[in-house]
Amino acid sequence: MIPHFRGLSFYDRDTLAGILDLADKLKAMDFREPIANGKVLINLFFNDSLRTRTSFEVAASHLGAHAITITPGKGSWDLETDYGIIMDGSKPEHVKEAIQVLARYGDAIGVRAFPEFQFYDDDKNERLLTAIADVCDKPLINLESSFQHPCQAMADWMTLRELFGHEIRKKTFVLTWAPHPRALPMAVPNSALEMAVLSGMNVKLACPEPMLLDPDHIARVKSTLLPGQQFEITHNQDHALDGADVVYAKAWSGKQVYSNPNGDLAVRKSHASWQVTSDKMGLTNNAKFMHCLPVRRNVVVSDDVLDSPNAVHIQEAENRMHAQKAILMSIWNLSL
Ligand code: CP
Repeated sequence: MIPHFRGLSFYDRDTLAGILDLADKLKAMDFREPIANGKVLINLFFNDSLRTRTSFEVAASHLGAHAITITPGKGSWDLETDYGIIMDGSKPEHVKEAIQVLARYGDAIGVRAFPEFQFYDDDKNERLLTAIADVCDKPLINLESSFQHPCQAMADWMTLRELFGHEIRKKTFVLTWAPHPRALPMAVPNSALEMAVLSGMNVKLACPEPMLLDPDHIARVKSTLLPGQQFEITHNQDHALDGADVVYAKAWSGKQVYSNPNGDLAVRKSHASWQVTSDKMGLTNNAKFMHCLPVRRNVVVSDDVLDSPNAVHIQEAENRMHAQKAILMSIWNLSL
């Protein structure tokens, strides 16, 4: 049993692999049995979602549990998330009361809370998720926070295991920054990097220099490297792609330009050529293309790459449902 699912770093490699072993079985069985009958999952989305929301609702349903989705300000009270303020504005309820109430109703609470891009350390410390965790006495599931997206990473790891099986540790995983019209969080790339290292693959992180991920996160991820496992950071995308077996593309805003919209925009504009194209994929070892979705076609990745048989983004999205079914079973101590 795991008490919550807040981030990959809370668990060791074997515990996470065990959850994926269960997810593999659930997928193979197309498992739909009411083993969680009577359980209630309450998901609180401060930000939009297609996959996370739907895949959790479906996963819960397949287990016989009931999932309730709350989007503050849209059919339920808008929630104040700042602490120590005078609540005389438009938000009538504080998240502190709301979470304690929801925890009385539900058997697990999911939270999606993106970064605010105001104060780097607040986002790095996951201010809102941490505040919620402090008052939530039921299992808490991170549905993507300011710095982590562990459920996405589990589905991605499951996908890599399906693609490469026992050969996985011989393969090279490239996480490449990609252009985007907006500054985006580091949550997905942080967790993708962490997952790829945990999977035992050789890992390359490719990004323009100002888009480097948080150095403390990188150092922590590197501390989990296995003997002989390679890890490289490069600011030359072509070099990274050379011989890659997997190309995982994602836009994000790096520490150097965080909370600096003009600086961030300048880097994004000057690195439009980092779009993943078929020419770029031609440098790889016939690599699989991965993306968490949603993806901006012909900005992040060209149509021909995304529509090629090497693109596995739909498989990743399907695996969200299976991996999360296994996560729910783990936090609720349910077995097959
Ligand atoms: N990948 C992912 O989390 O998708 P959504 O934002 O649609 O949930």
